[in-house]
Formats: sequence, C-alpha cells, structure tokens
Amino acid sequence: NVPKAINEQVKSYAPASKEREQVIAAFKEMYNSSTIDVPNYIGAEEVRTGKTQNITPPFNHKKVVGTYHEAEKQHIEQAISTALDARKNWAALNWEHRTAIFLKAADLIAGPYRAKINAATMIGQAKTVHQAEIDSACELIDFLRFNAEFMQQIYSEQPISSEGIWNRLEYRPLEGFVYAITPFNFTAIAGNLPAAPALMGNVVVWKPSASQVYSAQVIMEVFKLAGLPAGVINMVHGDPVMISDVLISSPDFAGLHFTGSTHVFKDLWAKIGQNINKYKTYPRIVGETGGKDFVLAHPTAIPAQVATALSRGAFEFQGQKCSAASRAYIPKSIWPQVKDLLIKDIESFKMGSPEDMGNFVSAVIHEGSFDKLAKYIDAAKSAKDAEIIVGGGYDKSVGWFIEPTVIETTNPHYETMETELFGPVLTVYVYDDAKWTETLELIDGTSPYALTGAIFSGDRYAIEEATKALENCAGNFYINDKPTGAVVGQQPFGGARASGTNDKAGSILNLYRWVSPRTIKETF
Ligand code: SER
Repeated sequence: NVPKAINEQVKSYAPASKEREQVIAAFKEMYNSSTIDVPNYIGAEEVRTGKTQNITPPFNHKKVVGTYHEAEKQHIEQAISTALDARKNWAALNWEHRTAIFLKAADLIAGPYRAKINAATMIGQAKTVHQAEIDSACELIDFLRFNAEFMQQIYSEQPISSEGIWNRLEYRPLEGFVYAITPFNFTAIAGNLPAAPALMGNVVVWKPSASQVYSAQVIMEVFKLAGLPAGVINMVHGDPVMISDVLISSPDFAGLHFTGSTHVFKDLWAKIGQNINKYKTYPRIVGETGGKDFVLAHPTAIPAQVATALSRGAFEFQGQKCSAASRAYIPKSIWPQVKDLLIKDIESFKMGSPEDMGNFVSAVIHEGSFDKLAKYIDAAKSAKDAEIIVGGGYDKSVGWFIEPTVIETTNPHYETMETELFGPVLTVYVYDDAKWTETLELIDGTSPYALTGAIFSGDRYAIEEATKALENCAGNFYINDKPTGAVVGQQPFGGARASGTNDKAGSILNLYRWVSPRTIKETF
C-alpha cells in the first residue's frame, strides 16, 4: 500500500520562526539576483531559444528578476515527439516506481524546497507568505500524496469473476500525450495538472501561464530531482495560440487538462471538435474555468460570520481565486451590522509587497487585470444604481495595486453582479427579507457559472431550502463557511455549467479521466 496521505500542516510563519527566516532569505536571494532564467524543458534538454520575455513581480513591475524563453513551432513539435518517445518506458513502468517519484517530489517540497517554491510564488504571483504556503507548499504536497492513494484505489477496483472465468480491468494510460494548460493563480494547480496524468502513466506537454513561469520552473526542478525520467513532463512557454494549435492538431493528442478562462477553454474545445477526425482516440477534455461565486445570507445568519466570510473569501490573494466570493446577497435586516464589520475589517488590511509579512493583500497579476478592474471601479463611481462603500482606489505607479473594493448595488443585475472580474472587487445586493424565495431564484438565474457558493443561516429549513434551490449553482457549496479554500481529499473541487467539466481536482474522480481501462476476460 502507498503511505496513508494526511493533509500537510500549514506553517505559521510567526515572527522569529525558522520557516519565516528561511522564506525571507529565499525571497531576498531571488529578488535581488536578477538572474532567473527559465528555459523550456524538452526531454533532458533545457531549451533556451534566446527569444525572451521579462519576469517582473506584480508588486514592483519595473524590476526585472529574470527572463523566460519562448518556444517556436519546431520546439513544440519536438516536445510531442520527445513525450511520445518517453511514453513506452513510462507507461510500462510499474506503478510503485511512478508513485515513488511523485511522493519524493512531495517530500522535497515539504522539506528542502518549501522556502524556494513559496518565495517563487510570492515574487512571481504576488502571494502573501500565508497564501503561498497554503498553495505552493500544502496544496501541492497534498495533490501529490493523495493522488497516489486515489491511484491505488482505482487500480484495486476489479470486476467480479466466476468459476472458470477470470475478469480483470487493466488501467492503461491514454494512447498519446496529455496537454496541460495551467493558470497563474495556483502553483498547486500548475503542479497537479501535469502530475496527475503522469502518475497514471501518461506523458505530458505542459504550458504554464506566462505569469507563473518562475514557480513552474521550481516544480520542474523538483520533479527532476525526484527522479522523473526525461520526456515524461515537458514544459514549454510562448504564444498560447500557436502552442495549442500545434498540440491539438497532433494525431497523438489524447487529453486536455486545463485550468483557466472559460472563453479559452471553449475555443480549445471547438478546435478539438474541428480536428476530431485526425485523432487516434477521442481526447479526454477536463477543464476548470471561471466562477461568479456567491455568498447568500439568510436573516438568521450571524453578521460577524458573514462579514468575515466576505472579507476573507473575496480578498485573500486579491480575489484572484476562481472560488472567490464576488457577489453577495444580504438581507436588509442584518446588512447594517455586516456592512460595518466588513468595512472595519477591510480598512485594517495592509497592502504592499509580500516581503513585508504584515501585508494582507498585494498587487493583481498584471496590467491587463489592473486596467479591467480599474474600469469597473470607475464605472461604479458614476453609476446611479451602485456605490462604492469601501476601497475604490488604485495605483499602478509601482505595482498593479487595486484596493479591496466593495460595491453596493440596488440592482441585482448590475454589471459586477454578473461579470467575472477575477480581482479584489465584491458586489453586494441587499435584498428585502420578505423576498427570500425570489433571491434564491435570482442567484440561480444571474450567472452562467456554477463553481462555488455559500449559505449562512441558523435556520435548518432555510439551509435545506437553499441547498435544494441552488443545487445547480455551485459544484462546491458551503454551509456557514466562505466559498474558498477547498482542501485536497476533503472538499473535492470543481463546478459545472460555464465553470468546467466538474472532474473534481483533489479527488479520485479526476484521476479516472487519465486512464483508458482494458477489460480482459479469460476463460479457463
Ligand atoms: N481550490 C481553490 C479554492 O477552493 C481554488 O482553486 O479556493
């Protein structure tokens, strides 16, 4: 049996703690070296094309900490053939040996690489140390360790046999390669999307987000050190459209493991459809996309609990979680209390570089995100049916800083109640206590997404009513808790509708997608 997985404990980074000293030292070293140089990893080769882009921390965008190299078409083709070459040995390797590599990678991150991967996430993606720790350390370690258990459960699931007949299921990897596309906002997701199919015996071409290349490099370094054979996971950077076109037109394209925006996922799906006659096998398409996640309070909710859920759920990591609370429905009767507490809490947030551990928020990821958020904030400033009750400031002179902002609206269909913003902006609609049932309908009908949602109430009947009425509105539904922070093995994560294929990262369901079982019947 594989070792029993237990969730990795979050370290506190308390002043004067060893982990705090280590992460600060790693941060300083990387931040001041300016020598980060991220290649493409194709087989055993580190491919430096010389066509480079700068890596700049979002909280200090004039500072260049390093560069990454963009691949050209021929490198992507090379990545495919290298992966396919590696496939024969990798797919045939006994599962224990594949598992040992990823378990060793988890141990390396838990130990000697913890400070480095956290510092890389802090610098490259502007996460505070606490957000980096729960993501690039704990969640990534959990994915790697729990996947081994899930894999074993899958392999042990066998059909019944009878006298003279022995039936078996052989869990083969997919016939071809898997293409992993990963987002900037979770280093853990970046690591898991190539690692999960690879654990099941697949070979992978991985394209991390251009805003996450630095921690992606640390992941590759860890996988290599753990003994991952060359060519099993190949990492490429560059023009996403070109890269996808080359990979998705290959006859050996066998699966897409995607986390990112809804429109990119839909475009890829459409292209896969156009190419369907080229493939040897129907590709598996697994995607986690956008969200417009809600918090609903019932009049029986405890105002302090609601306020905390909103401030943490909406503003941790600058709201750049697909699970972040971004639209709230609060009854008139408790809104004054919730509002006071929420404003107080937000006003206590300090904003700045993650190096200063007193900061609760930092910058948003890039200029595109900054400009989009500033536009919606400006629109709210002059709207007749909305007002900004806290925040509303922004400044891009040093970093892409947007103040945590709450918009209160009298219009349940106000633009920011419906559009995914992916940043530190929460919109609150205050409903009439008597209109509880209409509010449930409103939540269901307002957004095409269905990722996360939360209900706060002390009334069991109301909780049950909301749970039923909002059945299709969220793949992760929280009762009296914020809608973020799913833990691997505890709250399998993912949603349906425009939020994805709901193949639940951090659960056995995801790993099933990376095998193509063969049924063998033997008659004696
Ligand atoms: N799994 C994360 C959360 O639950 C989002 O990707 O917040």
